[in-house]
Amino acid sequence: MKRNLTAYTKNSFFSYADRQALAEIGVHLKHLQLIEATKIAYWWLVNESWRFSPIFFYEQYVSRSFDSQYGTDTLARVDLTTLDIDSPNKDYGVYYQASPVYSTRKVLHSLKIAYEEFTFVDFGSGKGRTLLLAAELPFQRVIGVEFSRELHACALSNIAVFAHKKAKLVESVYCDATLFEIPLDNLVLYFFNPFDEEVLSQVLANVNISLEKHPRRVFAVYHYLPDKGLFENLDRFRLIKQWHRYYVYEWNTGSKL
Ligand SMILES: C[S@@+](CC[C@H](N)C(=O)[O-])C[C@H]1O[C@@H](n2cnc3c(N)ncnc32)[C@H](O)[C@@H]1O
Repeated sequence: MKRNLTAYTKNSFFSYADRQALAEIGVHLKHLQLIEATKIAYWWLVNESWRFSPIFFYEQYVSRSFDSQYGTDTLARVDLTTLDIDSPNKDYGVYYQASPVYSTRKVLHSLKIAYEEFTFVDFGSGKGRTLLLAAELPFQRVIGVEFSRELHACALSNIAVFAHKKAKLVESVYCDATLFEIPLDNLVLYFFNPFDEEVLSQVLANVNISLEKHPRRVFAVYHYLPDKGLFENLDRFRLIKQWHRYYVYEWNTGSKL
């Protein structure tokens, strides 16, 4: 069953997924379809109920205090219709919303890699919050790709004021994700629900072509993956970890690098 994974509906404590699950359970119960109703309730418990746990409230607190702690400007959500974006992919883009701090840190810190041998790329990097979280680790390079000039400019200011960088180089690139040239380094690719499948499949095709040509170690971290098939159809990507809505894939080089 495919579900809309928009996490937080504006001005509502309950997400779209919560309300959709509840409505479907109601319909099944009305028709005495207990197995179907139980399946959806189980899906909700596994995937969504953590948002009602203390850790989620801690997550909210850490994310909201991030800017005051570091002197940055990353929190406020921005609708893409309010921005001047010169790209045919504008309509496929998702509004700017920053990645949650606690969970994203946790996932990035859990990668068992020598960070100094990897470049981190955030596709749809917005105001750059995830670039800053990645920069806390000693990555070779941290690169953000953003197609809004205004969000890119904001990311540049955030990078400039952030004083906790361990990465050698941190940059925001003003570019459409489909046109970004995939670096030839070992990579950690990060996506936080940046665009629809039309654009994602083009970006993944670019990644795949680059990897087939120059095999190297690559991890993809996806937060709010709309459809697992998008990675799993690229048969060399293997799911190595899932935590809440974070999926971590590793590209299988087919040889020991
Ligand atoms: C949900 S935000 C993610 C923000 C950031 N990655 C983070 O983790 O805090 C999605 C971002 O993707 C950008 N975006 C959407 N489509 C894009 C595209 N085709 N090329 C580059 N950026 C894009 C939007 O402007 C927005 O800033």
